[in-house]
Amino acid sequence: MFNLILFGPPGSGKGTQGEKLMNHYGLIHVSTGNLLREEIAKQTALGLEAKQFMEKGKLVPDAVVIGMIDSMIDNNPEAKGFLFDGFPRTVTQAEVLDSLLLQKDASINLVLSLQVTEKTLMERLLNRGKSSGRPDDIDEKIIKARIQEYESKTAPVADYYKRSNKLKTVMGEGNVDVIFNNLSKEINFIYTNQPAWKTAKSNS
Ligand code: AP5
Repeated sequence: MFNLILFGPPGSGKGTQGEKLMNHYGLIHVSTGNLLREEIAKQTALGLEAKQFMEKGKLVPDAVVIGMIDSMIDNNPEAKGFLFDGFPRTVTQAEVLDSLLLQKDASINLVLSLQVTEKTLMERLLNRGKSSGRPDDIDEKIIKARIQEYESKTAPVADYYKRSNKLKTVMGEGNVDVIFNNLSKEINFIYTNQPAWKTAKSNS
């Protein structure tokens, strides 16, 4: 298995690049934000609980998100690998992810961190808020709360992966295709040093 994390603050391009990388590498794209919004749309108990946090720009409790990831991994036993987008967002989530993957004899191979200035994040999200219908994109105060949550609870996750030499930083501003190529270069470097993953791909 080849497992990748796309890491970065709200609006850094995780979803945009995640879609492209999923198509290119045949990984399963797991976006906890999208999964939570689906639960809200279906008005499930989980969705109703998550909504209270999301509409304030706060992180949803770890237990809620971890349960979703656990099911996602279990429901895809044939996966060549997962591309995690917006997860893990706390050190606890990162530790649990490691143990869930270990149960499948797998691990995180690479963490790609997108670097974008706060000014650009704010511009991108407010701009998307004009048409997306995402309530957390409309109000500048909520976007600021999301960035604050990122800085206090999520940024430490980067150090967690830095300690195991898995973190690579990529500039997330500019042309989408150029960013994609830069992310791909980092993936290909690891990919060519992963014989098992190469074999799995070429057998498909
Ligand atoms: P989530 O849905 O994960 O949102 P986010 O991380 O806050 O950020 P976005 O998805 O808005 O941004 P992105 O980095 O994916 O960028 P995108 O490609 O969309 O989470 C929402 C909420 O759910 C959280 O606040 C939290 O409450 C909860 N949640 C989710 N996961 C959780 C977890 N694990 N634990 C606890 N709570 C959790 O791009 C943004 C915009 O910029 C788009 O309009 C795009 O078109 C544009 N754009 C992208 N790249 C470029 C570029 N290069 N140039 C110009 N524009 C660009």
